[in-house]
Amino acid sequence: MKNILVTGGAGFIGSNFVKMMLDAHPDYRIINVDALTYAGNLENLTDIDDNSNYHFIRADIRDRTKMDEIFASCAIDTVVNFAAESHVDRSIVEPEVFLTTNIIGTQVLLDTTKKYWKVNPDDKYCKEYKPGVKFLQVSTDEVYGALGAKGMFVETMPLLPNSPYSASKASADLIVRAYHETFGIPVNITRCSNNYGPYQFPEKLIPLMINNCLNNKELPVYGDGMQIRDWLHVSDHCSAIDTVLHKGLNGEVYNIGGNNEKANIDIVKLIIKTLGKSENLIKYVKDRPGHDRRYAIDNTKITSELGWEPAYTFEQGILETIEWYLDNQVWIANVVSGEYTVYYERMYL
Ligand code: NAD
Ligand code: TYD
Repeated sequence: MKNILVTGGAGFIGSNFVKMMLDAHPDYRIINVDALTYAGNLENLTDIDDNSNYHFIRADIRDRTKMDEIFASCAIDTVVNFAAESHVDRSIVEPEVFLTTNIIGTQVLLDTTKKYWKVNPDDKYCKEYKPGVKFLQVSTDEVYGALGAKGMFVETMPLLPNSPYSASKASADLIVRAYHETFGIPVNITRCSNNYGPYQFPEKLIPLMINNCLNNKELPVYGDGMQIRDWLHVSDHCSAIDTVLHKGLNGEVYNIGGNNEKANIDIVKLIIKTLGKSENLIKYVKDRPGHDRRYAIDNTKITSELGWEPAYTFEQGILETIEWYLDNQVWIANVVSGEYTVYYERMYL
């Protein structure tokens, strides 16, 4: 592994991953390809601007010509595909871009890897690939659909996505699987639970509630607030991806999670308490259509087969995260200007 193409590396998880990889593997070169949509932010990466192993290219993963050029010029041997439209609420209002970026974008990357990595690209029966290459698809537990009060997601479960977002991610997973089965591309798929941590765009629950609390704005809780998510610190997600890149068996899917289920309302109350605000800020609003009730990851496969463990407890991670947002108010002020205001008014007002 020498030249890693990280797509979506200017987003929340991608930017954390790029920085972790440069730190953990000083001999790797990271090529970050990002279209810089509303969610992509180069301010997340300013501290590595002068790292000679880091290169940024503004490009859309749906652009075949551009992807081809990048593979040709950068000798890419590893792909970690984070690039996606990632917010469920936006997928309910505008599904189409979710389908084109999340599904077609993934297929374009797979076609390009096939062309550059296959030993004999003109032979449709050839399943031999250059040594050491790998395509890692960053997916989500949301592809499994919703759980009832009991049970956990395991890798062998059927995919039953409920939102346009999760359906687009599930579709991408199936395309990755098909390219592995049919063409032999060496792949892994990771399915992680909800992430939190620094640089998360404040459209997602935790940074939205922190930002609104800081501005004494209402805290919009969907439905009864008793939906459950299984939270993982972003740096634990990144270390799990690094583990799968190095140790994951070809063609395998790995769930990623840290056994940390919380009801939304409890998270909101914890943020309120930590910031010394009043619960009167809570406003129960109309539920999200198709809202999944509960997610919970069974992480037995990645912990027992690959030896990965999360480093953070939720209590430690959420405190650090709140502190990060307190210390980075200029970052928040910049991301909530412009497009965010329009989005917020359309969603909540
Ligand atoms: P994000 O929305 O913060 O970042 C997405 C990035 O992709 C942005 O930088 C954006 O500019 C870029 N992008 C979007 N469309 C693109 C395109 N067509 N071409 C190139 N770049 C494009 O998302 P995130 O929360 O960092 O999630 C990253 C990945 O992890 C996604 O694939 C998501 O499905 C997955 N995931 C997220 C979570 C979570 O809790 N956030 C959990 C599990 C899996
Ligand atoms: P979100 O961060 O959008 O992640 P996902 O939908 O991918 O799990 O939402 C997390 C949970 O918080 C989800 O159950 C929806 C809920 N939620 C609210 O109650 N209010 C909000 O304003 C938002 C953004 C989310």
